[in-house]
Amino acid sequence: MTRTVLVLNGPNLNLLGTREPEIYGHDTLADILTDLSAHAAHSEVTIVDFQSNTEGELVGRLHEAQGTVDGVIFNPGAFTHYSIALRDAIAGTGLAVVETHLSNIHAREEFRHTSVLAPVCVGVVAGFGRHSYFVALDALLRYLA
Ligand code: DQA
Repeated sequence: MTRTVLVLNGPNLNLLGTREPEIYGHDTLADILTDLSAHAAHSEVTIVDFQSNTEGELVGRLHEAQGTVDGVIFNPGAFTHYSIALRDAIAGTGLAVVETHLSNIHAREEFRHTSVLAPVCVGVVAGFGRHSYFVALDALLRYLA
C-alpha cells in the first residue's frame, strides 16, 4: 500500500551539520532526508518534509497534513518541552505522530526530560542520532499496519 509520511522538523534543526555536532552529529537535515526518502521508497512510502523555526508555521503544517498524510515523524526541537499549541494541534488533528529526537532527551538537562507532546503522540523515539528518523519511520509503518 502506498503511503505518505510527513517529516516535520522544528527550530534549529536547519542547523544540523554544524550545530553542536558532538550531540547531533555531522549530517545535515538534507542528508538525513535524502537517505530517509530512499529508505522509504523501498516500502512504497513517499516522504514530504517541512522545517520551520516558527511555532505557528508548524501548527499550520499539521493542520494541512490532516487528511492528506498517513502519519507524521515530528522532531519538535525545543518546542517539545513547552508548546501547548503544538500539543493541541496534534490532538486536534488526530494525526498519528511519532515524536522523534536525535539525542536522548532523558540523559540531558532536566528541562529536556519533559515532553508536553508525548502524551498525544503514538510513540517516542530518542537517542539514536540520525537513525532515530529511520526507527520512527519503521515504527510508524508498523503502527499504521
Ligand atoms: C532535539 C532535543 C531538544 O531538546 C532540542 O531542543 C533540539 C533537538 C533532538 O533532536 O535531540 O532542538 O529535539
